[in-house]
Amino acid sequence: MKKIRLYSPAKLNLFLKVTGKRPDGYHNLVTIFERINLCDEISFALNPKGEIRISCSHPDVPTDTTNIVYKAAQLLKTKHRVVQGVDIVIKKRIPVAAGLGGGSSNGATALMGLNRLWKLSLSKRQLLSYARVLGSDVAFFLHDCRWGLGTQRGDRVKALKIAAKLWHILVVPEIKVYSRQVFEAFNFRLTKKNDGVNILARALRNHDVPAIGSLLLNDLETTIVRLYPNLITVKNKLRELPTQGVAFSGSGPALFGLTKSQAQAKAIKTALAGHYARVFVVATF
Ligand code: C5P
Repeated sequence: MKKIRLYSPAKLNLFLKVTGKRPDGYHNLVTIFERINLCDEISFALNPKGEIRISCSHPDVPTDTTNIVYKAAQLLKTKHRVVQGVDIVIKKRIPVAAGLGGGSSNGATALMGLNRLWKLSLSKRQLLSYARVLGSDVAFFLHDCRWGLGTQRGDRVKALKIAAKLWHILVVPEIKVYSRQVFEAFNFRLTKKNDGVNILARALRNHDVPAIGSLLLNDLETTIVRLYPNLITVKNKLRELPTQGVAFSGSGPALFGLTKSQAQAKAIKTALAGHYARVFVVATF
């Protein structure tokens, strides 16, 4: 096998509750991840000279050692004394630093792709331990599941056996927001009382779209809006439209509206034309 091409999907957080600050500086969370059909594409080809080389279609993505995909490759190469190298080409569609987990997903895809390309035969357990070194959200993308419940840093993931396929309108304002900045500014007095993760999981199992919409939660919202006050206008604009509920994903600025159907999401996209440059109709994937 000389070349592999894989999809690298984005995620939304339908529920994100911050439960505590940890001695290591991270925060403990309870979150529900949804994998969505907005995907990057990554190809991996053997590089016989032993180098790790990355190219990317998006100018904002670094192609040096700071890229999470490079870190994943370097980690596997060092730990398993891999002599061969790899040429990696990333076709970017997921907006960068948006709360959609694009980088984390690319990191997970690199672990899975290189495990095959370099014939390492690593177990999922081993890959998960590497995922946690790369970032908190990487583990979710190693699970072959549409829905996941994340705890601790978000890196302990239980795959949820939920069949629901939801439709969303996704708006990504043209700013970059870094998780570190949002978590550093986060204030526990601003957490919402709602701790209905089990209620939301039940609504998802029942495919009860209005209930799901009413249970969306993101504890980081107050902080995101305090740091970037213009984002509240985007949220309000979405709330004027016929969605079932609106929330930020992760640390933002991506906002999604839950819709009753694909047709409703498409109608909202048309209504938003000219208002925002980055608007997508997306579904559970
Ligand atoms: O793990 P990752 O590199 O994606 O996290 C980026 C930053 O977000 C961390 O440096 C940390 O400041 C913050 N973070 C956090 N608690 C989490 C996840 C991320 O404080 N559970």
